[in-house]
Amino acid sequence: MQSDLVIAIDGPAGAGKSTVAKKVADRLGIIYIDTGAMYRALTLEALRREINLNNEEKLSNLAQQIEIEFEKIDGEDKVLLNGEDVSQEIRSQKVSNYVSLVAKVSTVRKKLVNLQQRMARSKSVIMDGRDIGTVVLPNADLKIFLTASVQERTRRRYNELQTKGKVVEFDELKEEILRRDKLDKEREVAPLKKAKDAIELDSTDLTIEEVIDRIIKLCQEEL
Ligand code: DC
Repeated sequence: MQSDLVIAIDGPAGAGKSTVAKKVADRLGIIYIDTGAMYRALTLEALRREINLNNEEKLSNLAQQIEIEFEKIDGEDKVLLNGEDVSQEIRSQKVSNYVSLVAKVSTVRKKLVNLQQRMARSKSVIMDGRDIGTVVLPNADLKIFLTASVQERTRRRYNELQTKGKVVEFDELKEEILRRDKLDKEREVAPLKKAKDAIELDSTDLTIEEVIDRIIKLCQEEL
């Protein structure tokens, strides 16, 4: 494999980006960076401090103060917020419900994009999010835009939550996914959209392994 291989994966919530990106990273022996986790960690800290999520200045100040790191502990990817493992807490329904409000603030994005670009500097990485191919890593070697139908994305999240023993209403979950899609696509700064040179992959009828195999094959073809 060439040095400094950079892969960008974007797409809507629940398309399978993080599951796939994590496994591609393991197969290729490169670093995985989950940018959604960074917006989630900041949202968690804002909620803990009871900051008004419509107050852009306070959110922006908070973004300057906190430290977000990724670490592999016992083979598992962990997200550290000021040194504390918040990997589970950032997946809560509450954080999911509020994260789009935080992610639309331009000064917050500037800070986190800068951090993401630094994390990827001189390294082989696979990074997933909404604006990776368009804003964060416009020169990535391979850009994937991963999609799936809303029904399928809801089904996946529903199953994931059920295995964790969390009870949710399927239709409510679908509404939340649709609401988040809308906010992510319609926001002014760095909205979710396919980069011109990204390859679209619809995972609705594919297994995780099939998606991973296709991405690895694309890597081999593209590079
Ligand atoms: O991928 P995720 O569901 O963990 O992302 C959480 C939220 O963060 C999502 O609603 C959109 C936002 N996000 C973003 O705006 N830009 C990114 N690069 C990654 C996530």
